[in-house]
Amino acid sequence: MWWSKSKVSSISSPLPCLCLLWLIVPACEAQQQDLGALLTAKCNSWNTKTTLSFPGDGSFANVTERWTVFAPPMYSAAISPATEEDVVKTVKLAAKYNISFLATGAGHGYGTTLGKLQNGLDIDLSQFKSISVNQSAGTVTVGGGVRMRDVIDAVFKAGFEIQTGSCSCPGFVGATIGAGVGRWSGIFGLIIDALVSVRLVTADGRIVQVSKTSNPDLFWAIRGAGANFGIITSATYRLHKIVAGANGGGQVMNADILVPANMSAAYFNALQSFSGKMPANLAAVSIVRYDADAGAAGILANWDYMGSEADGRRAMAPILALNPPVVSISTVPWNKLFATAGFGIDPVLCENNVIRDLYSANVRNLSASTMQAAFNKMGTFYSDHPEARGSVLELETFPNQAATSVPDGETAYPWRDALGNMIFLFSWDASTNSATSTAATKLGRQLRDDFVKTSGYPDLSVYVSYAHGDEKIEQIYGRNKLPRLAALKKSWDPRNVFAYNNALPTKYP
Ligand SMILES: Cc1cc2nc3c(=O)[nH]c(=O)nc-3n(C[C@H](O)[C@H](O)[C@H](O)COP(=O)(O)OP(=O)(O)OC[C@H]3O[C@@H](n4cnc5c(N)ncnc54)[C@H](O)[C@@H]3O)c2cc1C
Ligand SMILES: *[C@@H]1O[C@H](CO)[C@@H](O)[C@H](O)[C@H]1NC(C)=O
Ligand SMILES: *[C@@H]1O[C@H](CO)[C@@H](O)[C@H](O)[C@H]1NC(C)=O
Ligand SMILES: *[C@@H]1O[C@H](CO)[C@@H](O)[C@H](O)[C@H]1NC(C)=O
Ligand SMILES: *[C@@H]1O[C@H](CO)[C@@H](O)[C@H](O)[C@H]1NC(C)=O
Ligand SMILES: *[C@@H]1O[C@H](CO)[C@@H](O)[C@H](O)[C@H]1NC(C)=O
Repeated sequence: MWWSKSKVSSISSPLPCLCLLWLIVPACEAQQQDLGALLTAKCNSWNTKTTLSFPGDGSFANVTERWTVFAPPMYSAAISPATEEDVVKTVKLAAKYNISFLATGAGHGYGTTLGKLQNGLDIDLSQFKSISVNQSAGTVTVGGGVRMRDVIDAVFKAGFEIQTGSCSCPGFVGATIGAGVGRWSGIFGLIIDALVSVRLVTADGRIVQVSKTSNPDLFWAIRGAGANFGIITSATYRLHKIVAGANGGGQVMNADILVPANMSAAYFNALQSFSGKMPANLAAVSIVRYDADAGAAGILANWDYMGSEADGRRAMAPILALNPPVVSISTVPWNKLFATAGFGIDPVLCENNVIRDLYSANVRNLSASTMQAAFNKMGTFYSDHPEARGSVLELETFPNQAATSVPDGETAYPWRDALGNMIFLFSWDASTNSATSTAATKLGRQLRDDFVKTSGYPDLSVYVSYAHGDEKIEQIYGRNKLPRLAALKKSWDPRNVFAYNNALPTKYP
């Protein structure tokens, strides 16, 4: 290991010990035998609320817990800084001793490149959980570790709404830095389109303000490739006034539907009829899953409409016309949608510590035949692999009117014209043998190839936060964006400290 005694003890320059204790405890460098000793050295004088944890500690598993345990990052230590100063100190310590680290918000990142971090340091941002709405400015400022579910009530109570992701559990800032795709990209845009400014700790341990007017190049880059550039301690977003309507506005029609296998072709035909004409207020997530009652694949569909039930029913008429056997329609306030959508499926999608191996492709064209073929392949997979019946296809079809009203050049995110994020999620029991993961890998890649063919894109395009990790950087970041991204990577993170999430090169081409 790089921090082996011999190597570290060879460091000769004295550490900048600021505390008074340096006289009575051994000098810092005498103690640095391993990562643990480096972090616990008294001279660090962490804030009293900053916590450290190590493998074997009761709190370690909790602090480092992740949504998926497939190819996860592995840590030798975790620090949960209580202050921005302690984030800075940690980053400087990491730079000085060449410690590999990952800053984590809510632990929902799932690309396999995160797993390239081994024996590293987790800089856990969960203490950065503040949320404050500025009523007169119409903004909200959140800490770097805040989750989707933490933001919605405060925002709604203050008379506002904001674009979010589709589940309650991911980090709000973590989702933002990829783009933040979600149901309301037709009327509100992507989450990056709400971003006003962030405070960011750079690779060399400086705190910078990043906005349209302060470090604008970096502001461009963090909106689409943010995991490559720094640690965001807080972020400010522009809010939207609650969308007008009955009951004080902000009402969302939620339609949950079960579609049996014998109706899947009709369903996908109806879904295809929305290709290129998804109404701005409408959003659909179609989950292909194993239906235990039927003993076969089935579809659990969630359609949401920002507005009244009457308008919502009109907007999704082609689906309702199919007369699916189970249709449950309700109208709920915007901030209750996470808890309602998909027959209340959110806790299942949000469960931590599960093996989940994901592939994905963006589409700007919906093809019923591609979706039906994928449905059939999942049916075969479920019968061949009963141990992996927790696997699902999550076909997210969202409108893009507001997302595409922002010029493509304004942000690093390259796929504003996408009309769907197709996600292929494979999950299996930890006790199964490697044949399951081999089959999942094969099918994941195959489905991705299949969707690319009718996607309307010339090549695979994938949302960075949904990338498996085996894609080419062009397929993630877009060929047009890479020269500028690489130049910015070179100036802000030349040593590639932020290397574990689909890392950018420092030179392109
Ligand atoms: C169940 C589920 C639902 C999802 N739904 C959506 C969705 O609807 N829309 C969408 O866009 N994405 C969605 N995602 C993807 C999610 O946004 C990304 O995985 C995101 O990176 C998760 O952030 P996190 O803080 O939870 O994860 P972590 O694993 O903690 O972090 C993931 C990456 O983000 C970086 N990061 C996190 N916080 C910060 C910060 N404050 N400063 C700098 N870097 C940071 C980390 O360094 C790491 O590279 C979903 C993921 C899951 C598992
Ligand atoms: C992890 O810590 C959080 C915050 O202290 C706590 O709410 C939660 O219950 C803990 N979880 C486990 C599994 O210990
Ligand atoms: C820093 O660590 C990485 C691996 O974690 C290693 O590849 C690299 O050579 C190290 N650099 C120095 C200067 O020790
Ligand atoms: C809220 O925003 C206004 C307008 O931008 C600003 O003047 C004020 O200082 C902010 N209030 C707080 C508490 O930050
Ligand atoms: C479709 O399948 C469901 C059960 O999943 C069954 O009740 C229904 O009768 C079938 N319909 C047709 C037309 O076969
Ligand atoms: C879009 O999907 C339709 C329906 O399957 C298909 O006919 C068409 O070829 C696709 N378009 C592109 C550009 O792939």
